[in-house]
Amino acid sequence: MHKDVGEILISESEINEIVKRLAKEIDNDYAGKDWLMVGVLKGSILFMADLMKAMENDFKIDFVVVSSYADGTESTGRVNVLKDISQSIEGKDLLIVEDIIDSGNTLHFLVKYFYAKGAASVKIVTLFDKPDRRRVDVPVEYVGKVIPDAFIVGYGLDYAEKYRTLPYVGILKPEVYS
Ligand code: IMP
Ligand code: MG
Repeated sequence: MHKDVGEILISESEINEIVKRLAKEIDNDYAGKDWLMVGVLKGSILFMADLMKAMENDFKIDFVVVSSYADGTESTGRVNVLKDISQSIEGKDLLIVEDIIDSGNTLHFLVKYFYAKGAASVKIVTLFDKPDRRRVDVPVEYVGKVIPDAFIVGYGLDYAEKYRTLPYVGILKPEVYS
């Protein structure tokens, strides 16, 4: 275990089970469609890679980079698009892949943003959900796991750009923040 991690909240094998379940659900729901999976970088990178590998059906992928956290643990509420989607999404069915939904600001913004660009449908899959922290309501079709209000790292999730490469999800020791 990493020296800064106080506790493992979700193990590698539990993540694996969650990802397989989500892949099956999405595979069933999108069967026969021509659709686009849109990863929200950087946090969703490991989740999206594993999810894609676990799916049977074919689809296209794209990415956006957004930021609302200035190296801290609280959303600033303002979402910036640092890298936009690289194709026309007019009339397309989109599934946004997120690592975690917290205040809801990021996904609330992105759903509106993609509809404004002409998407036919915009749905969301998130690996983790912290419903206690929600400030804006966002409908989420697929949720991997609901977690308590704690700041987590690993499996793509960072604190100040660190810990993304951990294969499990953990809670940092309190002294790491101070
Ligand atoms: P929201 O806009 O407040 O819903 O936050 C969404 C984004 O904040 C996610 O895509 C993550 O990048 C980041 N985030 C929220 N909670 C956590 C956490 O516990 N650990 C790491 N990143 C988080
Ligand atoms: Mg993120």
